[in-house]
Amino acid sequence: MDVQVRFPAQARSVCVPAGTLLIDAVRAANLPIASACRSDGLCGRCGVAVLAGGAGLDAETPEETRTKQRNRIDPHLRLACRISVRTDLAVAAPYW
Ligand code: FES
Repeated sequence: MDVQVRFPAQARSVCVPAGTLLIDAVRAANLPIASACRSDGLCGRCGVAVLAGGAGLDAETPEETRTKQRNRIDPHLRLACRISVRTDLAVAAPYW
């Protein structure tokens, strides 16, 4: 089953197989995404705001919370390399 990820600020969207990492969906849409740890969940640079569909996401793990705290990332952002997309979603990055 495919799900749709929308990027309203860029007027783009992409359909990806359910279970795709959000960071890969962003790249599939040819949008830039910051990453300094090769998606290892360490740098916190891939933080994005979930605008819609957040109820379908897994809860934030303690590791994701620690990474955000350690890197002083806005606690409202989710790390795109830690999220598997299972339902339709809309997101924005602080720099889009
Ligand atoms: S790319 Fe480094 S935490 Fe996501």
